[in-house]
Amino acid sequence: MARLPLLETPRLRIVPFDASLLTKRYVGWLNDPEVVRFSEQRHRHHDLAGCTAYFDSFEHSPHFFCAILHKGTPDEHIGNISIAVDRANRVADISIMLGEKQYWGQALGAEAWARVMEELFANQNIRKITAGTMALNHGMLTVMKRCGMEEEGRRKRQFLCDGQEVDMVMAAAFPPTLR
Ligand SMILES: CC(C)(COP(=O)(O)OP(=O)(O)OC[C@H]1O[C@@H](n2cnc3c(N)ncnc32)[C@H](O)[C@@H]1OP(=O)(O)O)[C@@H](O)C(=O)NCCC(=O)NCCS
Repeated sequence: MARLPLLETPRLRIVPFDASLLTKRYVGWLNDPEVVRFSEQRHRHHDLAGCTAYFDSFEHSPHFFCAILHKGTPDEHIGNISIAVDRANRVADISIMLGEKQYWGQALGAEAWARVMEELFANQNIRKITAGTMALNHGMLTVMKRCGMEEEGRRKRQFLCDGQEVDMVMAAAFPPTLR
């Protein structure tokens, strides 16, 4: 697996995902309808074997899979960040899941996201960062805005969420010097 170095923020450590983090607790996030409400993971049941296969899929790939740890004694695994890298075009697409709901609403998502963006631009030879989310995902739209990402397009009525047709918002950011 391509690996990012350990990334630190005031409240978090972002580390390469490790097999020891393949836990029932992590699988539980993916089976919690509230956590995956706006994610494509909501369509199926998840188990440890599937999560292991997802982790293994990063092996020999240019992509990064990171765990988000909340600093403490000991650190607590509260979510994950995946980064799909298109090396030829030097573009990275980020997605995030904070699985521990008690940590929502504290701007931790943006703290992790901003640190990953900084690393990709500064040290990973990435010139554009993209992300997509449902137009209903207020939390994710806020993370994008806080981190300086701008909407660059929409896929109209792309998703069905609770029976409602919802747009996909596509956002992007460039390093300040390349804007
Ligand atoms: C989306 C997510 C990363 C946001 O991270 P976060 O650290 O909670 O974000 P913030 O604390 O900056 O909150 C952003 C905004 O969303 C609001 N918010 C947070 N959790 C929310 C929830 N469950 N429902 C509605 N709004 C929520 C916050 O109040 C805040 O709004 P405000 O700025 O108007 O006060 C996180 O909630 C998460 O991982 N959710 C589940 C997975 C997911 O949806 N991933 C994205 C798939 S594309």
